[in-house]
Amino acid sequence: AEFDLVIRNGTIGTASAVFESDIGVKDGRIAALAKGLGAGAQEVDASGRLVLPGGVDTHTHIEEPRGGPTKNADTFASGSASAAAGGTTTVISFARQGRGESLAEQVALHHERGKRSRIDYSFHMIITDPTPQMITEELPALVEAGHRSLKIFLTYEGARITDAEALRVLAAGRKLGALVCIHAEHHEMIQFYTEALLAAGLTLPKHHAWSKPMVVERECTHRVCAMAEALDVPIQVFHVSGAESAEEIERAQKRGLKVWAETCPQYLVLTADDLDRPGFEGAKFIFSPAGRTRADQDALWDAIRRGVIGNVSSDHAPTRYAGADGKLAFGVDAPFTKVPNGIPGLATRMPILFSEGVAKGRIDLQTFVAITATNPARLFGLDPRKGTIAIGADADVAIWNPEKRVTITNSLLLHDNDHTPYEGLQVTGWPETTFVRGTAIVRDGQLLAPPGHGQFLPRAPYALIAPRGVFPAPFNPVDRVAL
Ligand code: URP
Ligand code: ZN
Ligand code: ZN
Ligand code: ZN
Repeated sequence: AEFDLVIRNGTIGTASAVFESDIGVKDGRIAALAKGLGAGAQEVDASGRLVLPGGVDTHTHIEEPRGGPTKNADTFASGSASAAAGGTTTVISFARQGRGESLAEQVALHHERGKRSRIDYSFHMIITDPTPQMITEELPALVEAGHRSLKIFLTYEGARITDAEALRVLAAGRKLGALVCIHAEHHEMIQFYTEALLAAGLTLPKHHAWSKPMVVERECTHRVCAMAEALDVPIQVFHVSGAESAEEIERAQKRGLKVWAETCPQYLVLTADDLDRPGFEGAKFIFSPAGRTRADQDALWDAIRRGVIGNVSSDHAPTRYAGADGKLAFGVDAPFTKVPNGIPGLATRMPILFSEGVAKGRIDLQTFVAITATNPARLFGLDPRKGTIAIGADADVAIWNPEKRVTITNSLLLHDNDHTPYEGLQVTGWPETTFVRGTAIVRDGQLLAPPGHGQFLPRAPYALIAPRGVFPAPFNPVDRVAL
């Protein structure tokens, strides 16, 4: 046969066009795009189906160690299965340096975990202890080895760094050519609120949202944009949750800054009211920043349509509800401060965005492809291999039935978590088959590929994240500091 695989008669969707074509795959790459292609050793009929680039999910906590009594519910084997079940073919997860730890050691450990991935993967490096020694002695080689993005937290006890440290990491990102991604919430305000809430006995899941109202995120979003401006460093702000934070992003972009922003499905379909469910069900909706309002959801869709927010990731961060003894893993009726932040979202990201976005007419198909695959691949230096359907690109595609109606239930998601906050949500449109480099990983909910099919994706230097060369003073402060 001329090709290893031919996907016939599909409607192809990319970030710029929708057209009818066959796809010919050879050696894991797209070798031909035309109608009436020659024979494939394997033939798939995609009549009446959409054939879309596999999703690129650039914010996923998979098999990430954490302190305390709970752990991340997914391994790379299960997390990558879940991603593929939802049409995603590439993930960027986090290699996390704890305080006093070597970043290089943590990256090496994460490489070991990644070997069981079924889909392709890359790493962001979480820096919680940016000592001058780590920055000068460990970081350059790690970036050079292809880990071209850094994450910092400005809140969370045990993870957050100070503004002075953040400036040092930003400077390092600029010098080494790595994109700095930031969790932006004002830590001391959250702490002040939290102490007051606990003192008042207000400890329910819904009080999680009270402890971190939008102002803590709006202020910090403004602050990190200003820090990025001061040192002329491109950044991505993680999980923008609503209108006021999106306004800060847009303001920075209008100033000409290279500030990119991400949001997540939870901010588009859930609200703070979900925390107020009966019993302890609200605990399944504790994530940070907290869910907001319907008006915030509308503002986020608008920001997506106007290109202010170009990346929609899952922020997959699963914790089991039930512990090994059948009781709540984090304690019955635990105060909100004891519930690990984060929800699972790898499998549901694309179906929810397709249904709420494309099927409901909020965004077109090209925009859906852009925010789930093409933009994140470009932003993190994974293009042209990932994020689009083009000759020479990896044959990472998902065949979608745009009409299929599915009621989301946990067992469909192929993750190792015991619940989803989207249980019972009805969606229209579902990925029926997901291919990574021409190999089917999931078909009709059946997992076909073994752990280990995935490949690590080192990222080469790329122009998109080059600094502008513009400082607010007639002086470059970054090149003066030792690195
Ligand atoms: O609540 C969340 N988002 N948990 C995951 C860690 C983070 O902040 O991204
Ligand atoms: Zn490495
Ligand atoms: Zn975060
Ligand atoms: Zn996260």
